[in-house]
Amino acid sequence: MRQVNESRVVKVTNTRYREHYHIQTPAGWLNDPNGLCFFKGYYHVFYQFHPYSAEWGPMHWGHVRSKDLVHWENLPVALVPGDSEDSGGCFSGSAIVRGNRLYLIYTGHHYYDDDNQDHFWENQNVAYSDDGIHFTKYTGNPVIEAPKDNSQDFRDPKVWEHDGQYYLVLGSREQANNRARILLYQSDDLLNWQYRGPITESRSIELEGSMWECPDLFRLNGQDIIACSPMGIQPQRHRFLNLSQAAYFIGQLDYNQAHFSHYDLHLLDYGHNFYAPQSFLTPDGRRIQFGWFSSFDNPMPEQADGWAGALTLPRELVMHGDRLGAIPAQETTQLRTGEVLNTSAIIHSPHRFTVTDPQHTEWDLTFDLTGYDGQVSWQLANTDQVLISLSYDQGSGEITVHQHGQASDRYATIGHVGQLRARIFVDTSSVEIFINDGAATFTERYYTDDQPVTTTLAASRPTATAIKAYTLDMKG
Ligand code: FRU
Repeated sequence: MRQVNESRVVKVTNTRYREHYHIQTPAGWLNDPNGLCFFKGYYHVFYQFHPYSAEWGPMHWGHVRSKDLVHWENLPVALVPGDSEDSGGCFSGSAIVRGNRLYLIYTGHHYYDDDNQDHFWENQNVAYSDDGIHFTKYTGNPVIEAPKDNSQDFRDPKVWEHDGQYYLVLGSREQANNRARILLYQSDDLLNWQYRGPITESRSIELEGSMWECPDLFRLNGQDIIACSPMGIQPQRHRFLNLSQAAYFIGQLDYNQAHFSHYDLHLLDYGHNFYAPQSFLTPDGRRIQFGWFSSFDNPMPEQADGWAGALTLPRELVMHGDRLGAIPAQETTQLRTGEVLNTSAIIHSPHRFTVTDPQHTEWDLTFDLTGYDGQVSWQLANTDQVLISLSYDQGSGEITVHQHGQASDRYATIGHVGQLRARIFVDTSSVEIFINDGAATFTERYYTDDQPVTTTLAASRPTATAIKAYTLDMKG
């Protein structure tokens, strides 16, 4: 197995934006979560990793594991690219346990010419491990090659088991019409795969995209869902405002016909920075998802410090009415190192709350909004500017999230509610917001060098509010 060249590995030079309780690289670049699974007593998370700089580069698989989903231990890099099956990178993929063995199924990325990153080809490969730490690439790789009618985009396999058979879906773009589609493959040993065909295709590039990266097909509450990360969608009023975003379809997969019938595409998260999520099933039957705090639309100042990117907290996927939503995984309560507020107050004009560590705090706020139309808000600010703010307008039923440095705000319509609950996780350079137990989430990054950071609540009319706050830390 290839090794990382330690003498070339980049180092963190300044910790000012380092997260305290999110998965991040020891140093170097991170993007998508990969290979989420539970194996021999540990949760495993892999991620797209470039150890030699804080820029995207030849992709490795970084690796962490945890007993509880929130306290993570760094492990050696699991996959190093450069073999004939992955000459240009080990791109995203997934994991599955078979017997006593952990299998990774990932995309091999290849350039025809090293000087032209736009011209490439992709195939699918297998690596396996018996200890969950050291991986061996399968000698029979590649296990899947692109069908003849495919464009160069052919990546991000997500594997699962159903009725004694293995299946995987991957993101593909058809050569002839340039549209996104999802291909289905079937196997009985994870090594020999039979092509079953495209199970669904984008109806229009403008509305649904030209490529669905990182498709994730899973079952929740009796329905099949495909979460994916579409490229090329055009903004639709208050929706799809990011350059790239994560979305989902609810539907039904017909395994015999290899066809996925579904309803419309919806956003999975309404914030500025959420992409390429992947999910897995915990031993106790919860569907847990991690996403990448992506940053396609603005710079990442931590790159100057030798690192870039982080993964979100684990989120439990839930149905909220007929929509897919997320709540913080219950294990996130284990990150609490102290309770700093537990009170009720009548909020009206802006009220500043002082907590010990405002950049490492979870807020659990419940605004009682019965009986009037008005607005309530939460904001994080430094001495010069608002860094992140959230406001809810009961008249329109809309939540607005503002991020400093972003030209446009982000919105989610949740309708008229009697109570608004916002769970807000602030880390050194990120904020995750969970509204009304699955109604909407917003994933945001922020950067500040200025102290002090303050938190303020406000309401347009006197509003009874239950306020809890906890300090959080992974070391706790
Ligand atoms: C999504 C993505 C995947 C690909 C990986 C490469 O962010 O573009 O489609 O496998 O990142 O790092």
